[in-house]
Amino acid sequence: MSNTGGLCSASESTMAGLSFLCCGVLLFASIFLNPISCHARFRPRDAAHKALFVFGDSLFDPGNNQYLNDSSQEGAGATVFPYGETFFKRPTGRLCDGRTVPDLIAQFANLPILPPYLQPGDHQFTDGANFASAGAGVLDNTRPGSINLRLQLSYFKDVVKSLREKLGEEEAKRVLMNAVYLFSIGGNDYFGFSQRNRVASEESEGQYVQSVIGNLTSVLKEICDLGGRKIAFQNVGPLGCVPMTKVFDPSIGSGCAEEPSSLARQHNRYLAIFLKQLETQLPGFKYAIFDYYIALGDRVANPSKYGFKEGKAACCGSGPYRGMNCGRTENGTQMFELCSNPSEYVWFDGGHTTERANTQLAQLLWDGAPPVTAPLNMKQLFSF
Ligand SMILES: *[C@@H]1O[C@H](CO)[C@@H](O)[C@H](O)[C@H]1NC(C)=O
Ligand SMILES: *[C@@H]1O[C@H](CO)[C@@H](O)[C@H](O)[C@H]1NC(C)=O
Ligand SMILES: *[C@@H]1O[C@H](CO)[C@@H](O)[C@H](O)[C@H]1NC(C)=O
Repeated sequence: MSNTGGLCSASESTMAGLSFLCCGVLLFASIFLNPISCHARFRPRDAAHKALFVFGDSLFDPGNNQYLNDSSQEGAGATVFPYGETFFKRPTGRLCDGRTVPDLIAQFANLPILPPYLQPGDHQFTDGANFASAGAGVLDNTRPGSINLRLQLSYFKDVVKSLREKLGEEEAKRVLMNAVYLFSIGGNDYFGFSQRNRVASEESEGQYVQSVIGNLTSVLKEICDLGGRKIAFQNVGPLGCVPMTKVFDPSIGSGCAEEPSSLARQHNRYLAIFLKQLETQLPGFKYAIFDYYIALGDRVANPSKYGFKEGKAACCGSGPYRGMNCGRTENGTQMFELCSNPSEYVWFDGGHTTERANTQLAQLLWDGAPPVTAPLNMKQLFSF
């Protein structure tokens, strides 16, 4: 990758580190010398409180797409029964029967479940924000109309502005430096590529992966320019194993399609290399990568090992492996089948896992050990 250099220049980050250190000294001194005025300026509760900012696709979307003006977007469809039936007892726009991975991570971190960023009304940005959007990709043209990663970044910049206005420059900087930034992105770019190119050369695949990683890099660079230091990734999953893929290509049968999965593996390899480079270039930078590809792939292949009865067909949907149409009705007629107990299934619909599977996955992202979650996990990122 030629474009991974120059991320958040070292001098800038050294300065940030120094000013951070100075704050620590000041805090210590003022507690020691003048506990009352110190308490007024630095509330201890705030020191432990860390925000969670979520960027991503349908796996992490808490319902942003229902607020898009283009109602044809994927995920607008998750506002109907049976989505949400397990935990929320109503559809929320999540493509799941219950909580998604970022919902569970927020709970592990003692934060409230983050509402969709686009939900009207007041937001507590010191808790973080969730910008994820079903259909979103790294590249702008992956799914026009969804909130692509670049647009999610521009929403994040609005949040930064609002934090600065509300808290002042110094305190906003502290919130941004202590915050954890969680990503799930790239899957839709590779689904799109493999649908457009049934047969692609190794060279064009390599170029495509490189442009996805390059654009992802530039977004991460801007987040760390704004003060972000702790990044967590759920990497790209085994795309050829999702039930929906089998609807498009019945010849896959009970196995997994090789094509989108091999793109995912290439992406994941480069992602790991890139984040490791970033760590050496940027003092104070820390990261976690959860190997979702392996963790989910193993649950699909060996469901009973993890307490599931079914790892291939979805709980909700119609067609092969119930890979499509979950939630769809026509003229008042339900166009899908629905299982009676989603917790027996890895997949809730044709592209998204059940709350039960999400709970296992979130647990691995939170406090899993290498090689599944490495070099750090999210619990460690929240502890710094
Ligand atoms: C939807 O349209 C309204 C009115 O044009 C606009 O104010 C709003 O920002 C749009 N929402 C999104 C998410 O693009
Ligand atoms: C971003 O993606 C576009 C294709 O959408 C590509 O032309 C461009 O080179 C990529 N940028 C980087 C920095 O890789
Ligand atoms: C629903 O109604 C429309 C218009 O009456 C009709 O064209 C369509 O075939 C109906 N669909 C089903 C599934 O019955």
